[in-house]
Amino acid sequence: MRQKKGLFIVFVLSVTGFFLLVAFESFSPVDSITGKDIYRLNCAACHGTDRSGYSDFYPSLINIQESLSKEEVLKQINNGKGQMPPFPHITPEEKNSLIAFLFEEKNEIVESSIENLGERIFLSNCSSCHRATVNDPKPLNVRMMEPAPLAGATKRFTKEEIFKILETGVCYMPSFSHFTLDEREELYSFIKSLEGKGEPKRPTMGEMCPMDENEKKVNKNIQKFL
Ligand code: HEC
Ligand code: HEC
Repeated sequence: MRQKKGLFIVFVLSVTGFFLLVAFESFSPVDSITGKDIYRLNCAACHGTDRSGYSDFYPSLINIQESLSKEEVLKQINNGKGQMPPFPHITPEEKNSLIAFLFEEKNEIVESSIENLGERIFLSNCSSCHRATVNDPKPLNVRMMEPAPLAGATKRFTKEEIFKILETGVCYMPSFSHFTLDEREELYSFIKSLEGKGEPKRPTMGEMCPMDENEKKVNKNIQKFL
């Protein structure tokens, strides 16, 4: 009898252990960054999450190996071209893995996590249109009218509103729905860290494009700052 009870306890413990292990595996955050992630974090906003591009303006990168060599792609990433900015903040290892991904090769895990992730996301995805603070030079993609520098956006909008702007995009700002929740949090923390460092005198939401109902709701919240 006693032996049976012991066996039963061992059985229960191993079953629980098994489920705990499964739960841990599925809930633990992503701890390996591959070339595919480097693509998503730096290139997908313009070239599409599936690399098929948008219109003629943002070319498709599918089968890029048929038209460009790895060296040419590397050069394009380093120097930028036309409306594509250069990416000096992507490390050489990350570029190798990114290019392997683009060339449909096995893309290696480059690292377990990215340092200064929020700032890196800003540099690759936002800085071509938004300055961080009013003291920075004018962004590449801005000619006549410029959307507000992001310093102080965390005062002008609630976190939910900023997440919503990222989800849907506004005016000609694209959607960044391909960022994970963790990545949005990191980006939010970076924008928050800009508070007080050269905030614009007035926000610009709605100045450039007529807003739909959703955007109007967000905009109501910032009227008090105008
Ligand atoms: C801000 C938008 C933007 C981002 C972000 C961006 N690109 Fe581009 N990319 C462009 C545009 C626009 C072109 C066309 C440039 C031209 O020829 O004038 C282009 C062209 C290219 C080309 C050449 C395609 C061809 O057929 O000639 C490659 C390769 C490329 N991008 C790779 C990348 C990679 C890799 C990343 C991420 C590290 C990236 N791009 C991020 C806008 C972007
Ligand atoms: C292609 C250009 C472009 C890119 C890239 C872009 N935005 Fe925007 N953003 C805009 C435009 C345009 C507006 C609306 C401005 C207006 O209505 O006057 C805007 C508005 C905003 C606002 C409200 C600003 C305010 O205070 O009025 C926030 C916050 C914002 N963007 C965050 C971001 C973040 C974060 C990123 C990067 C993940 C980003 N944007 C990338 C063009 C861009």
